[in-house]
Amino acid sequence: MLRYDYENALKVGEISFEDVNKVDFYNAYLNLMEKLNNGTIGFRDVIYKEDLNKYKSLNGYENVVVVGMGGSILGTMAIYYATFPFANNAYFIDNSDPEKTLSILKKVDLNNSIIYIISKSGNTLETLVNYYLIKKEIEKLNSFEGKIVFITNGGKLKREAEKNNYEILSIPENVPGRFSVFTAVGLAPLYSLGVDISKILEGARVMDKICQNEDILKNPALLNGVIHYLYEKKGKDISVIMSYVESLKYFGEWYKQLIGESLGKKGNGITPMLSIGAKDQHSLLQLYMDGKKDKVITFITTETYRLDKEIEFEDLNDEKISCMYSDVIKYEQKATEIALTNNKVPNIKITLDEINEMTMGALLYMYEMQVGFMGELYNINAYNQPAVEEEKKICWKLLKQK
Ligand code: PA5
Repeated sequence: MLRYDYENALKVGEISFEDVNKVDFYNAYLNLMEKLNNGTIGFRDVIYKEDLNKYKSLNGYENVVVVGMGGSILGTMAIYYATFPFANNAYFIDNSDPEKTLSILKKVDLNNSIIYIISKSGNTLETLVNYYLIKKEIEKLNSFEGKIVFITNGGKLKREAEKNNYEILSIPENVPGRFSVFTAVGLAPLYSLGVDISKILEGARVMDKICQNEDILKNPALLNGVIHYLYEKKGKDISVIMSYVESLKYFGEWYKQLIGESLGKKGNGITPMLSIGAKDQHSLLQLYMDGKKDKVITFITTETYRLDKEIEFEDLNDEKISCMYSDVIKYEQKATEIALTNNKVPNIKITLDEINEMTMGALLYMYEMQVGFMGELYNINAYNQPAVEEEKKICWKLLKQK
């Protein structure tokens, strides 16, 4: 389902198995397991306990509109765009940029839509404002044939939903926003979009079994966490996801939030970056190869591209080459991997059998576990985001003054 190759992260010579073994990863493992077992943190429980029957009434709409920010929308986008890269009935309103939101509202037929308003706190400014914009549009219609579903636990949006008798789904309190893709936050809109949500959870459960392993060499989440932790201590504190599957672009966005908000605390953390291969070989590879040596690269690739064909072309010496179209990007990835290793840039490779619901469930869950382990290694709370509250307070004040 998913293969994790770490050899090139150790081959470049800066960290060794001895260094890995010196890290107190067993304690980090025990601490995370305790939090997951005693329910302090609930992102593991939900992959076993989610009742999928509650989503049955949520399909049959032509369009799906999802309004949310950060953890309330990025996981849905990651899985949706990966599994349905060519569909066009999904509208994600995930910002307060007037050009983007207003152009979506101009285009979408709300009458044929199921509209999700997603905010765990119920108080997120952008989500609130975007909800009010949609409400105004709906009021202009003679009658509204669509459906509005709130996924929220409280705040202004829950009060608004209750006042208007909208359907409300809730999120387990012990599942933090950016770890909530396997709750109603991700599952409800993905179900409406035709994604097989039972397979997503199945993939996460298979990965969970693997991540229970105490043997670090059999536990990719733990090993990847320790490798990134060790390199961060050596000044390689930028983690680049370089995906050779373009439909994983939003997985990269989800990854950035998960890593950035969870681990960027008390002067710690790694800076997440996203690159798309092969095209970034022509923009960023020079920097990765020969610039400041502060990066660890993670290739994400797939064994099978869902669309492919045999091709023929002539090389630069006019000699004929016949291969599959996917061989081109596969060899470009391989060549980049070899060149980076030759230049002593640590790199890791995650290969998915194919991009589908199972493998995406496994991939996202693996990173949730990795970040959980890394939070324990840094001895920080990986599940809050106190620093972003300051901006929120200032912004509400400025808006009110206006
Ligand atoms: O991970 C988190 O908790 C945050 O990034 C939230 O997901 C984000 O701020 C949106 O919050 P809410 O779901 O309360 O609207």
